[in-house]
Amino acid sequence: MTEEPSDTAHREVPARVDSELSRAERTLRDAGIDSARGDAEWLLAAVLEIDRGRLLIVDGLDQETRDRFRGLVDRRARRIPLQHIVGTTSFGPAELAVGPGVFVPRPETEFLAEWAVGIADGAGIVTVVDLCSGSGALAIAVATMLPNARVWAVERSPEALEWLRRNVASAPPQVRDRIAVVAADVTDAAQMHAMLPAGSVDVVVANPPYVPQAARVAPEVAHDPADAVFGGADGMSVITPMMPIVAELLRPGGVVGVEHDDTTSAAVLDVVGAVGAFDDVRARDDLAGRPRFVTARRV
Ligand SMILES: C[S@@+](CC[C@H](N)C(=O)[O-])C[C@H]1O[C@@H](n2cnc3c(N)ncnc32)[C@H](O)[C@@H]1O
Repeated sequence: MTEEPSDTAHREVPARVDSELSRAERTLRDAGIDSARGDAEWLLAAVLEIDRGRLLIVDGLDQETRDRFRGLVDRRARRIPLQHIVGTTSFGPAELAVGPGVFVPRPETEFLAEWAVGIADGAGIVTVVDLCSGSGALAIAVATMLPNARVWAVERSPEALEWLRRNVASAPPQVRDRIAVVAADVTDAAQMHAMLPAGSVDVVVANPPYVPQAARVAPEVAHDPADAVFGGADGMSVITPMMPIVAELLRPGGVVGVEHDDTTSAAVLDVVGAVGAFDDVRARDDLAGRPRFVTARRV
């Protein structure tokens, strides 16, 4: 009987590498990290500057490599995000530089990119706006997957804008040439109207700060900028003023998808409904089955 290739790394890596990985896994698990084995493998792959899958063919670690690896494991055990330690993260088809000053993109947000592409694929030129763009994850992923898209990436934080500009500049020319970076506040109607005329946008995606201020969060979240994560006492401080502006930007028939906290689906549905300019307003779940997104169409 043949075995599935998944999870073979643990059993098949050469002994010295495997024992070093097992030691790291224990350290990370003791620090409360659920993804301890995977994180250990990512860190070792980063030290060796190889793909994680190639750990299988590494036949030993010299002292210097081992010491560097243990140094990274110690940092991760202090709950510094894996992505900050290795300096990059993947988001759909995009490879992004991340670090202090910018929000680390989360896998659940890929739903918004796929949803936008599913709606806009096959149309003519599509105008897409990514509000609260951060590292540019959504903007770059959508521009990569939708060759007919022109994408506006809107961000307010000067530190995040540096990462955003760097990531857009690193994208392939056929992608970056279709992305405009805009320094603006998504809750400021005048700034948003200066960006694009009313009624000119086909698709808006937004992953705004939305965690209620008093929510308990994982230790790693302390490394994201607070104004990227928290949306006031109720998690709605950006979403509420943003939605009427989104309605003005969209053309009739244009669509919006917004990510929100899993406790605020009803509040977001209320806010979108109260704008009085949307139909087909839907709550959607993330992969864990939690309500995480609201999508709607401009009437
Ligand atoms: C949750 S992060 C999302 C980043 C990125 N879209 C992603 O999915 O990884 C929210 C981002 O919104 C930015 N932001 C917060 N308030 C804003 C505002 N009023 N106008 C524009 N950007 C804002 C933060 O700086 C942060 O980069």
